[in-house]
Amino acid sequence: MNETRRAVLDALADGPVAGPALADEFGISRAAVWKHVEALRDAGFEVESASDGYALAGLPEYGAAAVEFGLDAPFDVEYHDAVASTNDRARELASEGASDTVVLADRQTGGRGRRGREWSSPSGGVWLSLVLRPDVPPARVPLVTLAAAVAVTDAARDAGVDAAIKWPNDCIVPRRDSERGGDKLAGVLTEMEGEASRVSWAVVGVGVNADVNPDELAGDATSVRAEAGGVDRRAFVQRFLERFDELRDDPDAILGAWRERAATLGQRVRVDTADGDVVGDAVDVTEHGALVVETDSGREVVHAGDCQHLRPVDGA
Ligand code: BTN
Repeated sequence: MNETRRAVLDALADGPVAGPALADEFGISRAAVWKHVEALRDAGFEVESASDGYALAGLPEYGAAAVEFGLDAPFDVEYHDAVASTNDRARELASEGASDTVVLADRQTGGRGRRGREWSSPSGGVWLSLVLRPDVPPARVPLVTLAAAVAVTDAARDAGVDAAIKWPNDCIVPRRDSERGGDKLAGVLTEMEGEASRVSWAVVGVGVNADVNPDELAGDATSVRAEAGGVDRRAFVQRFLERFDELRDDPDAILGAWRERAATLGQRVRVDTADGDVVGDAVDVTEHGALVVETDSGREVVHAGDCQHLRPVDGA
């Protein structure tokens, strides 16, 4: 949304305000004011017009303008009703030079998960990708992924879901006796381009089973709707973006928050890695996003793999 339109919208939110007063305030014609009001109505904002002027009476439920309105974080939003993959679109924008941009979709037709898996993305989910240009070497990018996992967990908790983080970066609803540790609510897929010393761009894709029926999803999945009833996707995305923005430049805060929300730490785990299974007690996560596992033959640092929660360490 352009700057004047955004300013007109803010004025309407504090309204009622008369058309001529808006024209004076922004140095534009009355016809231009009217055009901005009509464009806002087209974008789904309810603008009342009474004898004392225009006033904002309602917001669009979802979409770029809805998420940008009142957002306390410096992101531009590009919205699609349907797209193959928000990560693919974000990569295109990254290669064109975009930064701090969010690609958001109601549905994806070719959603991608970690390890080349498909990611079910029916209408009603929160499917988004952040285009970022962190001024760090590639080895620090995992911290950005950890920050996204914390932010999505906090947004889910605010929406009333008992959410926690499962290594590496899944957001789950913990269940006793579940080998996977619980049912999956959200996942994070980070991709990047750069040189050894500096990242050129990073795309952080986040998929949240928000207002969807878990029957439409693959595997042991749950959704915000199933756990907490309805969900306001606009509020969810705003909370996620604001929390992510708060954390992203603060490695200590990211690691501390990740550890506090981790369902995996303190569990006996089996991690299926490219070099075989690692079994032991999950004791920590490193700033590179690796899991530290205390095994019978010593401490191992596991960088990638699928993790099963076998049982709490104390219950051994
Ligand atoms: C995982 O396997 O847990 C990661 C899933 C990441 C899915 C999200 S949905 C938005 C973005 N676009 C994609 O194609 N994938 C990510």
